[in-house]
Amino acid sequence: MLVDTFGRVASDLRISLTDKCSLRCTYCMPAEGLPWLRKAELLTDDEIVRLAAVFVALGVTTIRLTGGEPLLHPTVPLVVGRLASLVPRPELSLTTNGIGLVGLAPELVAAGLDRVNVSVDTLDRERFRELTRRDRLPDVLAGVAAAAAAGLHPVKVNAVLMRGSNLSEAPALLGWALRAGYRMRFIEHMPLDAQHAWTRDAMVTAEEMLDVLSEHYTLRPVGRGAHESAPAEEFDVLDGPGSDEWTARPGSLGVIASVTRPFCRECDRLRLTADGQLRTCLFARTETDLRAALRGDATDEQIAELIRAAVAGKQAGHGIGAADFVQPARPMSAIGG
Ligand code: 5AD
Ligand code: SF4
Repeated sequence: MLVDTFGRVASDLRISLTDKCSLRCTYCMPAEGLPWLRKAELLTDDEIVRLAAVFVALGVTTIRLTGGEPLLHPTVPLVVGRLASLVPRPELSLTTNGIGLVGLAPELVAAGLDRVNVSVDTLDRERFRELTRRDRLPDVLAGVAAAAAAGLHPVKVNAVLMRGSNLSEAPALLGWALRAGYRMRFIEHMPLDAQHAWTRDAMVTAEEMLDVLSEHYTLRPVGRGAHESAPAEEFDVLDGPGSDEWTARPGSLGVIASVTRPFCRECDRLRLTADGQLRTCLFARTETDLRAALRGDATDEQIAELIRAAVAGKQAGHGIGAADFVQPARPMSAIGG
């Protein structure tokens, strides 16, 4: 088991397959994109699978593929298939912007994908174009539907709420998700944007999100999700507009208050970047170079030792709000969600 000095057990690994993305969400990336990693810097599929096997042997039980946009990785179904054949088989999920799911969802399910999170920040085509700088809302919505049709239940939908943009749309997003049977998750914006434009004052807090939603819906808090380390605080939706059109299942609404109600004490996550750097926290200031170990002919045991040492050094929490907080150099899109 991978235990840190605060007694937390790392059991969830997020693997970023690429730092590239087909969208340019204003809260994430500049319009011109970022200096992308070069191909030689990226882990190969063989390297990804070898590292994943070491993590699984160390007690990792869930693996999530992230990006940038993971579906841009040319062989993502093959990677899923190879991860699904690890023993013991990890649970496999993927966080995507939805573009590409229409073509890939059935193949991903056949390869062994268990679940998917799709980012949908707005249902308004013009606002989507402004927010993501691409006119791709129809592809995204078709992607969400394709995921559900392929059996990737429960489909979770993520939205980062921004004031003066999509905050007012939160009730409509929840209504849409309830009718379709998706689980809606509203996320606080974190200081991980490439532009370093985040400010505490501009950020929409979970409290504010719940105020906006409560004007329309009757919500009952049910605590954290599936397990204690799940970041979403979940709510039952008891009543609201169009309630004859939906049955609110448990966990229909989740709020991820990473900034104002941090869940660092329960954190069970590790992150592997597309260039093979292990990060024990989104906000870590240091990384462990697993790619150098791989390419330097390290044995699995030597790699396991590097991973154990990194976990032992995992920081207590993100420290946003502390006087000495410094945003990490890598933006969200190069770490993985
Ligand atoms: N803060 C919070 N969430 C973010 N995402 C991207 N950037 C940020 C940020 N700075 C979200 C995406 C996606 C998931 C991977 O993380 O919208 O839903
Ligand atoms: Fe791409 Fe996700 Fe960043 Fe949007 S938030 S630009 S979808 S990586």
